[in-house]
Amino acid sequence: MVLLGFMTSGKTQVGRALASQLGWTHVDLDREIERATGETIARIFADQGEPEFRRLEVQSTPRLLAAEHIVLSPGGGWITNQGLFESLPPDTLTVWLKVSPDIVARRLRRSRSRTVRPLLQEPDATRIAELLAERIPLYEKAAFHIDTDRLPVSRIAAEIAQIVRPGRPRSITPDT
Ligand code: S3P
Repeated sequence: MVLLGFMTSGKTQVGRALASQLGWTHVDLDREIERATGETIARIFADQGEPEFRRLEVQSTPRLLAAEHIVLSPGGGWITNQGLFESLPPDTLTVWLKVSPDIVARRLRRSRSRTVRPLLQEPDATRIAELLAERIPLYEKAAFHIDTDRLPVSRIAAEIAQIVRPGRPRSITPDT
């Protein structure tokens, strides 16, 4: 399974919660690239540029998805790698965690000191809206779309777990 979505959409947190609910393995692609290269994402962007980072995303993806029962959380720009989505194994479940630009701006302001995002150094509303608009047609390719703005991580994870295991109802309505 691959969780798609813009920066701050919760791909990592949801992926972690979901993997734990399903008993699957969670893989965060950015962390995986950092581990493999020994460099931070910010360093790779600064020293080698975005094309090199995108190359690393493309190179790492098939290997990480080769195992079964994986929840992969790639970075928000993973979807911009031409042909990568189309190259996913045919049975790969894809989910888009939708988030609105104002929520992105709010979350970026809150997280700035902890996370470095080279493509959004300043959480500027216009830039966020532009980048998001460019990517929406790409994220739309995902098989499932979830509006995450008003949902807690646990609830989003539960919704996706339902897709994987539809036989287990989330709540049972009493038969009156
Ligand atoms: C990027 C998103 C980041 C990271 C890199 C590029 C993007 O990941 O991969 O900074 O192009 O949207 P998150 O979506 O986890 O912030």
